[in-house]
This record gives sequence, structure tokens and C-alpha cells, in this order.
Amino acid sequence: MSTGYSDLDALQPRLAAIASLGPAELEAEEIAILGRKSGALTAALKRVAALPVEERKRYGAAVNTLKGTFEGAFAARRSALDAEKAEREQAGVDLTMPARGRWVGAEHPVTRVVDEIVEIFRGIGFTVALGPEVETEWYNFLALNFPADHPAMDMHDTLYLDAAPVEGEPGGRLLLRTHTSPVQIRTLMQSPPPVRVVIPGMVYRNDAFDPSHSPAFHQVEGLAVDEGISFVDLKATLIHFAHRFFGPTTKTRFRPSFFPFTEPSAEMDVECQLCHGSGCPACKGTGWMEILGCGMVHPAVLENCSVDSEQYTGWAFGMGPHRIAMLRYGIPDIRLLLEGDMRFLEQLGGTQ
Ligand code: PHE
Repeated sequence: MSTGYSDLDALQPRLAAIASLGPAELEAEEIAILGRKSGALTAALKRVAALPVEERKRYGAAVNTLKGTFEGAFAARRSALDAEKAEREQAGVDLTMPARGRWVGAEHPVTRVVDEIVEIFRGIGFTVALGPEVETEWYNFLALNFPADHPAMDMHDTLYLDAAPVEGEPGGRLLLRTHTSPVQIRTLMQSPPPVRVVIPGMVYRNDAFDPSHSPAFHQVEGLAVDEGISFVDLKATLIHFAHRFFGPTTKTRFRPSFFPFTEPSAEMDVECQLCHGSGCPACKGTGWMEILGCGMVHPAVLENCSVDSEQYTGWAFGMGPHRIAMLRYGIPDIRLLLEGDMRFLEQLGGTQ
């Protein structure tokens, strides 16, 4: 609507535009039109005093009317913007919130280590075998040549179950397996030699949960039984493994040990991956870290599985992937690998 004054009519398009302004633009436009210092209408009002008397009234009235129209338009736009904002907030949309990084998930470091170990052995002709986590005393201890009064079979050393043993399974009480070695027995009873298997799985012990112990952890067992297998094969295979896993120049050593199901028995150490042999708290100053137990399968174990111990020999090992993951990633406390704390796992996994 024309006011009859060109300077005031020139403001009309800006009046129409107010309905589509955003909050910041609205504020700037309000200052540009109504601001006390340099607003366009403030300047127009100042001009009134300089006009001839009869003009003063008409022009003054036109400016005041237009000022009122602008004030109304600014107020209407402000309340429309406030209403939109309240609606967004009620719908739970906060456009000012920073975007979230996307966590795509990753393999657990222990899973990664188990897979790598298994792959290295698959590369030299081993296949994967699995067995149950609930075992009988016979598979877990007796068939593995533990004497019947061995302290490992004590209630306080091993986690026993109240359930009755399964019909037809070679017997004794049910327990959570304390190692993956019972799967040696299951494998040999199922398939006669030649046998070359790796056996990943969880095992359970009546242990404290502290920086270096856990009542539940992974093991990877290995078993090779054939004609003419010797300790040389055992050493060569495990050194090959250490070189593939830790690097081709990694030092290893074998120390004599004892297990009822192997004879002779040994433990294998690799050079500490954190200090490279100079000695640090992680390796208790020795420069070495024990990663597995091993040995030649005891003839009594072969006979328990109806394998002729005159014809066949074999070797076995059992290693702890938690220990190996701690070595590789420099993790000081085994509990970090078992608690599922995302703040820790994200550091080893990665985001996208
Ligand atoms: N089962 C043994 C343990 O849990 C490890 C082992 C496996 C040793 C096979 C020798 C041969 O400590």
C-alpha cells in the first residue's frame, strides 16, 4: 500500500521479506529499520522536524503507521521462529548438536590373535577341531594320564557342575574344561592318525581375577600324531610359528617342564616383545615371555585312545592367546581383554 512518499514506499519490499528471515537476519533487519542510531525509520522521523508545518503532520503520521506495521511484522516473525524452535525441541531434534563419529565395530584383539594363530597352522596343513566346554573328568584329566588323586581334580582347583553326566559318555563328574587338551582325546578317538589339528576354545579355572589371571580365558591347542614324528618336528614347527607370528628374527627358547600327558615336556618362551630382551616389568626383568606348554604325546595317552604307541608318535602344544595379545599390543592387565570396556576396545579397533 502506497504511502505517497517514495522514501517510505522504498521500504515496502523489505516489509514483505520479513516473513522469511532466519533468527540472525531478523535481528539485523530490525536494527536496520528501527535501530535508534541509524534505523531507516528513525532517520525518517528525524526528518519530520525539518518539514513545513502542514507537511509535518501528514508525513509524521505516515512514518508512525509504517513503523507500527514493521514492529508488528518483526514481532510476528519472532514468535513464528520461537514456535518452530519449540516444536523441534519437543520432537527431540537438536540441530546444534555435533555429529557423532560412527563406531563400525572391530574384531576383539584376542579373536584377531586366535584367528592369526589358526591361519599360520592351517598354512602348514593343520585343520581346526572343536570340543565342548563342559567336559567329564575322564576327558579332561584321566584320559590325559592325570593320576586319579591329582590335585588339579580337587573341588577347589576346578569348577565342577551339579548336573548328572550324559548317558554313554566316558565318565565321572561334569566340569568346565580346564584346558583344550581333552579335545586331543576326542580327536584321536574319532579319527585314527595321521592327525594334525589346531583347537581354539575357552577354558575355565578356579583362579582369581587379577592383572595376570582370569577364571575364563582362551587357549589354542595343537596336536600332530603320525609315524616317525619326533621332538625335532615339534621344535621346528613351533619356531616356524613364532617367526611367522612375531617376526622372522624373533628369538625363542625351550625350557624343560612337566605335564602328565606329554613326555618329555617343555615350555616355550619368546623374546619379550616390549623390551626385546633387555628386561622390563612385563617380563619381570627376564627378557623372555612364556607363551605355551608342549611336549611329545605320552604313550599312555595314545593307548587310552586306542592308538598303537609302538607305531605312532606325536607332539602337542597349548598356548594362551591372551598372553600373546598382551605381548603384541603392550597391554599390562589381562582384565582389560575380558571386561568389554568400549573405552579400551575402541583404542585397538578404530572408528570410521
Ligand atoms: N594343557 C596344558 C595347559 O593348559 C598345555 C599343554 C598342552 C601342554 C599340550 C602340553 C601339551 O597348561
